[in-house]
Amino acid sequence: MRKTAATQATADAEDGIIDLRSDTVTQPTAAMRAAMAAAEVGDDVYGDDATVNRLQAVAAERFGFEAALFFPSGTQSNLCALMSHCGRGDEYLVGQDAHTYRYEQGGAAVLGSIQPQPLNNQPDGSIALTDIEAAIKPDDVHFARTRLLALENTIHGRVLSQDYLRAATSLARAFGLATHLDGARLYNAIVKLGIDERAAVQGFDSVSLCLSKGLGAPVGSLLLSSRELIGRARRWRKALGGGMRQAGVLAAAGLYALEHNVARLADDHANAAHLATGLRALGLEVEPVETNIVYLRLAPMQIAALAAAMQDQAQDKNQAQPHSSGQGQGLRLSLGARTRLVTHLDISRAQIERLLKLFAATLGG
Ligand SMILES: Cc1ncc(COP(=O)(O)O)c(C=O)c1O
Repeated sequence: MRKTAATQATADAEDGIIDLRSDTVTQPTAAMRAAMAAAEVGDDVYGDDATVNRLQAVAAERFGFEAALFFPSGTQSNLCALMSHCGRGDEYLVGQDAHTYRYEQGGAAVLGSIQPQPLNNQPDGSIALTDIEAAIKPDDVHFARTRLLALENTIHGRVLSQDYLRAATSLARAFGLATHLDGARLYNAIVKLGIDERAAVQGFDSVSLCLSKGLGAPVGSLLLSSRELIGRARRWRKALGGGMRQAGVLAAAGLYALEHNVARLADDHANAAHLATGLRALGLEVEPVETNIVYLRLAPMQIAALAAAMQDQAQDKNQAQPHSSGQGQGLRLSLGARTRLVTHLDISRAQIERLLKLFAATLGG
C-alpha cells in the first residue's frame, strides 16, 4: 500500500529512523496538520490571507519590530533583506562561515549586485570587532560602499553572547552601517540563554527567522524589520518569485510552531549534550556543543565503518516485515571528516541511546 505523508511520518517514528542530517527533516505532527487544514486563507499577493497576516503580526509583536513578511525559505528571506538594505555596488560584511555567504550560492552578488566582504569567523562564531572596523571602507571612488553588517545566531550551533551582539551592532551603527541577523535558529539561542525575543534582536535593523528548522514547520521563514524595509522586501520577494497565494495553510503551521514548539527546543539541546558526552566517552573528538548541533571529527576508516553500518541498517529496515515490532534502525547521517549531527523534534532520547550503542559497536568503543 502506498503511504501517505502522514502515515509515512508515523511509520518513520515507529521504525525508529534516526535522521540527524538536519533539523529541517522533521515531519509535521497530526496537530500541526490539523491547524493547516483548518486555516483561513486568501490571496496573499493581494494581502488577503488572514492567517499569513496573523503570523506576520504575531511575530512582529513578539520580536518588537514594526512589520514582518512571510517567505517560502530562509534563503529568500535573507536575500530580500540584503537587497533591501544594499543597492547595486554596495557591500556587506559577513562571516566566511555564514550561511548567506557560503551556502546560498552567492545570491547577494549574483542576484543583488551586492559585493560580499567575507571576514574570518572566530571559533565561537563571532567576527572580531577589530576585523569589522578594519573592513569598513572609506568614502572613496575606489571602493564599494560598505552598507551592512550581517551576523548569524546561532552559528553552527554556537550562541553569540549578548555582550558581543551589543558591541558589534553598536560598532556598525557608529560607522553608519545597517545590521541584519540571520536568525534561522535564533530560537535555539533564545531558549539556551533564557532571554526574551526582544532582547535577542536588540540592535538589529532586520532579522530572518526560520520556522522550518528546530520549530518543526514544513515550510517558511519570516523577515522582521521596519515597515519601510519590509515594503522594499515585499517588492523583491515578488521579483524573486516568492509571492505566494493561499499561503495560509503554511502560515498556520508557522503559528502552531511558535505556539507549541519553542520551549521544547531545550529537549533538543539536552539530547545533543547527551550525544556529545556519549561520543566523547567512546574516545571520539567532539567540538563544544551549545545547542542542537554536534560536530564530530572522524578519520577516513571510521567514516567507512559508519557508512557500512548505515547500509546494513537500511537493508535490515527493508527486510523488516510490515507488522514487525518497529525496532528497525534506519540511520541517516551526513558523514564526513567533520560530521554534523543535528537533534530535533523527531529525535528521542531513546534514539540517541540506540545511536550511541551503534557507534560503540561499529567503532569498537
Ligand atoms: C543559518 C541558516 N540560514 C539560512 C538558511 C536557509 O534556509 P532555507 O533552507 O529555508 O533556505 C539555513 C538553512 O539551513 C541556515 O542553516
